[in-house]
Amino acid sequence: MPDKHTNATRKSTAAVTLTDVRKTYHRGEPVHALDGVDLAIETGSYTAVMGPSGSGKSTLMNAVGCLDMPTDGSITVNGTEVTTLSDSKRTTLRGDEIGFVFQTFNLMPKLTAKENVALPMVFQGVKTNPRNERASDLLERVGLGDRLDHRPNELSGGQRQRVAIARALANDPAIILADEPTGNLDTETEGQILSLFEELHDEGNTIFLVTHERVVAEHADRIVHLLDGEIERIETVDSPRRMEANA
Ligand SMILES: Nc1ncnc2c1ncn2[C@@H]1O[C@H](COP(=O)(O)OP(=O)(O)OP(=O)(O)O)[C@@H](O)[C@H]1O
Ligand SMILES: [Mg+2]
Repeated sequence: MPDKHTNATRKSTAAVTLTDVRKTYHRGEPVHALDGVDLAIETGSYTAVMGPSGSGKSTLMNAVGCLDMPTDGSITVNGTEVTTLSDSKRTTLRGDEIGFVFQTFNLMPKLTAKENVALPMVFQGVKTNPRNERASDLLERVGLGDRLDHRPNELSGGQRQRVAIARALANDPAIILADEPTGNLDTETEGQILSLFEELHDEGNTIFLVTHERVVAEHADRIVHLLDGEIERIETVDSPRRMEANA
C-alpha cells in the first residue's frame, strides 16, 4: 500500500496543533482538566507527556486523538480544524489519521492477530486482499510473522501489545498515540516495545506517548510536563541514549 503521507507533507506541516485548548468538566465545582494548552506536535517528532495523577494527561491525549472535543480552543490534524467537524467527519478523520495504542491493548478477543490488525482498514473501506496483505506485513514488521492466526489469549503480553501497535499503524496514521503502552509489561518486554517505538520514530512516524515513568519518557525527543491542566514546561531530552542514537 503506498504511503499516503509524502515526505514533503510530512516535513512541511505539524501533525497536530492545539491552540488555547480548554476542557472543563462540570461536576459540582468546575474542573479545568485542560486550562489553556498550546502545543505543536511536529511531524516526525517523539513526544512524551508526564504529570501527576489528575493533571490532564488522558484528557490531553483524548483531545489530540479527537476522541473528545475541548470546551474551547482549536485543534488541527494535518491542517484540518477538527473542533468544527461533524461527528461522522471527525470519526472518519480519526480512523484515517490517528493510531491508538492503549495500556490494556483493547484487542478483539475472538479475532486473530491478523484480523485485529485488519479491522481498522475494514472501517476505512480497504478491500479484503490488500487489507490482509498489509495486516500480514505489519505483523511481520513487529516480529509476529509467525503468529498471524493466534488469538489474543494465545499470545504473551508483549506480543499482544505488538499486535496493538501493528493495528495502530494499519491506516498509516499521521500520529501514533499511546497511553501508558508499557504499563502492563515486565521490564524486558517494556524494552522491546520501546525499541519498536524508536524504530517507528526513526522511520519518520510521529509518536505521542503518556507515561508516568521517567525512564520511558526519556526515549522521546522532548517531555511535556503537565500540571493542573497546564503545560508547566517542555523539556528537551538529551540523554546519553538519544545522543548515541542521533550520533
Ligand atoms: N468525565 C469526567 N468528568 C468529570 N471530571 C473528569 C472527567 N474526566 C476527567 N475528569 C477530571 O479531570 C482531571 C484530569 O483528568 P485526567 O484523566 O486527564 O488525568 P490524568 O493526568 O490522565 O491522571 P492519571 O495519571 O491518574 O491517569 C481530573 O481532575 C479528573 O478528575
Ligand atoms: Mg490518565
